[in-house]
Amino acid sequence: MKILLTGGCGFIGSNFVRFALGAGGDLSIVNLDALTYSGNPENLADLGDDNRYRFVKGDIRDLDLMAELIGECDAVVHMAAESHVDRSIIDARPFIQTNVLGTQTLLDALRRADPGNDKRFVHVSTDEVYGSLPLDRPDLLFTEDTPTDPKSPYAASKAASDFLVRAAVHTFGVNACITNCSNNFGPYQFPEKVIPLFVTNLIEGKKVPLYGDGLNVRDWLHVDDHCEAILAVLERGERGRTYNIGGNNERSNIDLTHQILAIMGFGDEMIQPVKDRPGHDRRYAIDAGRIERELGWTPSRSAWPLALRETIAWYKDNPQWWRRVKSGAYRAYYEQQYGSKA
Ligand code: NAD
Ligand code: DAU
Repeated sequence: MKILLTGGCGFIGSNFVRFALGAGGDLSIVNLDALTYSGNPENLADLGDDNRYRFVKGDIRDLDLMAELIGECDAVVHMAAESHVDRSIIDARPFIQTNVLGTQTLLDALRRADPGNDKRFVHVSTDEVYGSLPLDRPDLLFTEDTPTDPKSPYAASKAASDFLVRAAVHTFGVNACITNCSNNFGPYQFPEKVIPLFVTNLIEGKKVPLYGDGLNVRDWLHVDDHCEAILAVLERGERGRTYNIGGNNERSNIDLTHQILAIMGFGDEMIQPVKDRPGHDRRYAIDAGRIERELGWTPSRSAWPLALRETIAWYKDNPQWWRRVKSGAYRAYYEQQYGSKA
């Protein structure tokens, strides 16, 4: 199978390339990526000249290019996105451009290149489309039937893209599935996201900026578990179906912070409380029962503290990767987001 992957130079995309090519099947990947601030070809430098992999620099809003590439491939895995909530609060427009207009352009290109609707299209989305769960109802989880209720501009743009995919399935019979996944962690994550941000700050001797009261909860999933779930949906998902993906691994931010500090040998003095994220979602938690029952997938690599310890070790072992990423434009973003607090 030849897959067109969008956004393959980002965090999940680059791990997906490595995971899928390592899975051993008869598989090749064309990676289409615009190389925005979070897209980094170094994430795939270790592939060398593997002839099952090809990189194309381009934008998912380029209809002709997308139709041409889809025409060459058997399936599409769509991950390209603006992905960071805090950036969407600073400026939502790039999120609408890529996540909404870009997804619609890909769907249009798919219909042009595949009028018979034979090619599988996997739309990689987020649990944030479901909104926020209360802390005092641990029994509540997001299921595929939870109403869409996005709370941040990022989540709203992803929810819009999910609706566009569903509309294409309903109206044109497009062969698409949607995945809604919880928070990922692992190697090559851009250090604007909480785990690589906190770990690399501590290695640099800087404090970690904890938002609000630190009680917000996220459901942490190792990126390789996510990649495995996407492959399962690609190969065995039912046309038009949505699959939730999660780690059964709920942690409050303060608990996460304490675990990182303990593993790295620091104390609470390294926590810098900062103003809360506006509209900060309180809790995400996934019921991944459908993908387990129907496709036989369960998370097997996400258990803490081992998986967290290994992820921290990767950032300790690869300072050249994140030091380059944290220079240049990253500094201006950091100053705007946190000032000189952390
Ligand atoms: P990322 O920001 O690390 O990577 C995004 C990639 O998309 C980058 O390589 C970037 O260059 C590329 N890109 C952006 N705009 C583009 C455009 N217009 N055309 C072509 N390429 C473009 O993001 P990530 O964390 O790897 O997330 C990947 C996908 O998974 C996103 O769709 C995100 O919504 C979803 N997701 C992420 C998580 C998570 O925890 N990170 C969880 C669930 C779902
Ligand atoms: O749930 C899936 C989503 O997970 C994905 O769709 C997004 O692309 C991904 O970025 C992630 O969103 P979050 O907003 O949950 O991730 P982030 O790493 O930004 O924040 C995780 C938690 O940590 C959140 O409650 C906010 C908190 N936080 C974050 C940062 C960056 C802090 O306390 N301090 C920080 O500096």
